[in-house]
Order: sequence, then C-alpha cells, then structure tokens
Amino acid sequence: MADYRIGFESAETECDGVDLPVDGDLPAWLDGALVRNGPGKFEAGCGEGAADEGFAHWFDGLALLRKFAFRDGGVELTTRFLRTDEYRAVVEEGRLGAGQFGTRAGGSLLGRLTDAVLPESTDNANVNVMRTGEHFLALTEVPTQVAFDPETLETRGEWAFDDDVDAHMACAHPVVDPESGATFNLSVRFGRTPSYVLTRLPAGETSRDVVATLSLSDPVYVHSFALTPGHVVIAACPLVVDVLGLVRPGGHDTFLDALDWRPGRPTTFVAVSRETGNVVAESSAPAFFTFHHVNAFRRADRLVVDLVAFDDASVVDSLALADLQAGSVRTLDGDLRRYSVPLDGGRATHETLAAGGLSLPRFDERRRGRPYQYAYATRAGGEDGAPNHLVRVDLETLETRVWEEAETFCGEPVFVPEPGGGERDGVVLSVVLDAAREQSFLLVLDADSFEERARAWAPDVLPFDFHGQFYMGR
Ligand SMILES: [Fe+2]
Repeated sequence: MADYRIGFESAETECDGVDLPVDGDLPAWLDGALVRNGPGKFEAGCGEGAADEGFAHWFDGLALLRKFAFRDGGVELTTRFLRTDEYRAVVEEGRLGAGQFGTRAGGSLLGRLTDAVLPESTDNANVNVMRTGEHFLALTEVPTQVAFDPETLETRGEWAFDDDVDAHMACAHPVVDPESGATFNLSVRFGRTPSYVLTRLPAGETSRDVVATLSLSDPVYVHSFALTPGHVVIAACPLVVDVLGLVRPGGHDTFLDALDWRPGRPTTFVAVSRETGNVVAESSAPAFFTFHHVNAFRRADRLVVDLVAFDDASVVDSLALADLQAGSVRTLDGDLRRYSVPLDGGRATHETLAAGGLSLPRFDERRRGRPYQYAYATRAGGEDGAPNHLVRVDLETLETRVWEEAETFCGEPVFVPEPGGGERDGVVLSVVLDAAREQSFLLVLDADSFEERARAWAPDVLPFDFHGQFYMGR
C-alpha cells in the first residue's frame, strides 16, 4: 500500500503556469490565487558529484513556493524555489549553508556568530507568506523576509521593514486584524534582557509600530499567537530556549538542540492590552505545547482561546526527516482545545473540542477575534500517524465532518469565503497527495457540505508544505 513518504522527497522540477486538468466544477466566483510555502528540497548538491549531505529536520528543507491560480474557469500551477543564499549554497555549491532549525551547518557555530548573541540567520524563508501593499513576502522564524513576484513567484531578494525594530526571531504567523487591516506579529530579542516585541503594521504600509515590549526571564519558543479586538494572547509553553548554550563554545549545534522541555512548569497565557501595551492577565494551565492557535475572543470577563495542543513538545523532535522517512509520524497528535482564560487572574481551564491527530488549523479569517462556528484542520486517521483526513469542527454542536480518500494525505485546509457570504458559504482548499498515483492535487471542498466540488491535478508530487494564503483577484 502506498504511504506518505514520497511527500518528504525533493521536488525535481519547477512549474511555470501549467494548466491543470480539473475534475468537477469550480465555483464561478472563485477568483484569485492560493500561494503556499514549504520545504521542497532536502539534500545538498545536484547531479553528478553532489555532496551526500542532507537536512536533518523537515523544517529546514529549501523553500518552494507554490501558486494555484484560478483563472478563466481553470487552475494554473506555478512552483518556484526561493533563490536565496541558502539555495545557492545547497544547490550550486553542494553544501549546507547557515545553521537552521535542526540541521547542523558547516563550520563551527562560534565562527558563524554575527553579533555575539546568535548564529547567522538563515534566509531560507520556507514557512508562510504575507502581503503588505504590493509586496509579497516569504517568511520563516527569523526576521529575514524574502520578497517574490506574485505572478511568476520569482525571487526579488531580501526585504526589510522600513523601521528599526530589531529582533533575533519572529513568528511566521502574522495575523491580520479584520477591522483595520493591520498586521500584528511577535518577535523575540535575546541578549541580556530577553524580550518579546509585539508589532503592528498598518494596512499596506512597510513600517511597524511597537505595541508592547515584554521582558522575559526565560525565553520560550512561540510559534503563533491570537488576536482579539482588545488583546493579544500568547500561550507561553515551557519549551525554553537555552540562549547561553547557543553562544557558548562547544554549546548547541542547532536551534532544536537548544530547546528544553520543562514539564514541571505550567503553560502560561499572557494577555496583552492592544491599547496600553500592558500585560493585563497571566493565567496558568498544566503544561502543554502548541504550534498553532486557531481563534480567540472575549466572553464576559474571560478570553476564549482555541488552539491545537500537544501533551508535550516531542512533536518538534519527531519531525526529523530520518524519522519521517522511516515511515511513521509518531507524535503528530494534537487535540483542538478551548481554553477559558480569566482576565482577573486565576487558572485557565479547558474543554476538548475535537480529539486526536489534529494539525494545521484554520478558520474564516473574517471572524478573527470574534465568536465563530467552524474550525478546519488536518487529522491523522491511520496507524502511521500521517494526516490523511480533513475535518471541519462545528464549534457550537461539536459535530465533526470528515473528508477522506484511501491512500491520500492532506495539507492545511484554507477557507475561502464567497464574497458577501457567511461562514458556510465558500470553499476549503487543500493540497492533497495521492500516494498511489504519485501525484498531488488541489482539492476544492464545499464549505457547507464538506463534500468535494473539484480537484485539479498537479503534474507530479508536490512535497508536503506548511502554510498558505488566498489572495483574491490575483
Ligand atoms: Fe506554523
């Protein structure tokens, strides 16, 4: 039986506006493009004489942008590797470049220190994409943005914000406030007094305002956060970054090695006022780990915070490529939880909305910060732990609908609203790997029935990716 592993193999080619054969019926209103980002190459060198050297962790694969453009009733696929320093080192020179998440770089770590605090940042921006004005940016977890052409996906080069916000890490999950169109994000500064820096980028601008600066005793790894009209909410899990160990001679070789899970500590929800920049509540819960928040909103004197929670941080290690390519995704086993966070102190409590195997949650972004009805996610329904289901969870009734098909593996489900419609009116897009056919397709589900409307076949396998955004009218 075909399994998921071909989704962790390198893409050999790029596509340039290839018309995809479509089964089914695309909505006439669906006008725009799904732009996605994720790893696409996992070993250094190419062709004869290439170095026999591979990346150690899935998070480190070379960024491959992918675009499904809905155009003239059809779907066009464009894929393009980001041409970065990391790409040139890996592909043209056959060596691994700057140190990344879980792959040791060439040379000593000390030799790569640039500011006596952290190793040189990678420019392999392979996690997500964002847009501000006419600038389209590829993002990763260090503050190195790479601009690309939204039509051709060609790399335009490193791109800097027009401000003096200085940080060592940044979330690759900026969130857009649906009221103002401003983009909020969270950066981390290490150094003598580590701090989180919360920024706000007004719609279409290139310069950020600092909303809040929060001092840290121990910096912890934060992958995403939540935004409501009044607050920013961070779930600070006890996955501590050993910064001193990164700079000490003979210390950690990779960022992954510097992460230390301390289950004796709680996970603390930190609520920050958007108006004053002050921390207005800190509320603890028994330790859990999260990559991805879903949504959050205020209910009376509490914040409701939905996220995908893991019992511990072993999921981070389990995404090592050797383990994934061995045929088992051991711990991709998140629950969709709803935490109730009191704004006047006290402990956070939770209920489980959907249990087991969930990952990569999304929802209708127009509802960000407000009560909402539906969350979407991938789910691992098989013994190998790979995500082979898409689910829609009704957060009011807890009814779960599932899309599945034998020998297929699913990517992040992105909801695209029909203009003027509600949460039920739209489609859900997911890049699915048909492992038996050795071919990926873009699946178009009807958001209301959660049944297939159409699928558009890519010419080949597209390696599993992380995150993407739909841009209307592109
Ligand atoms: Fe993510």
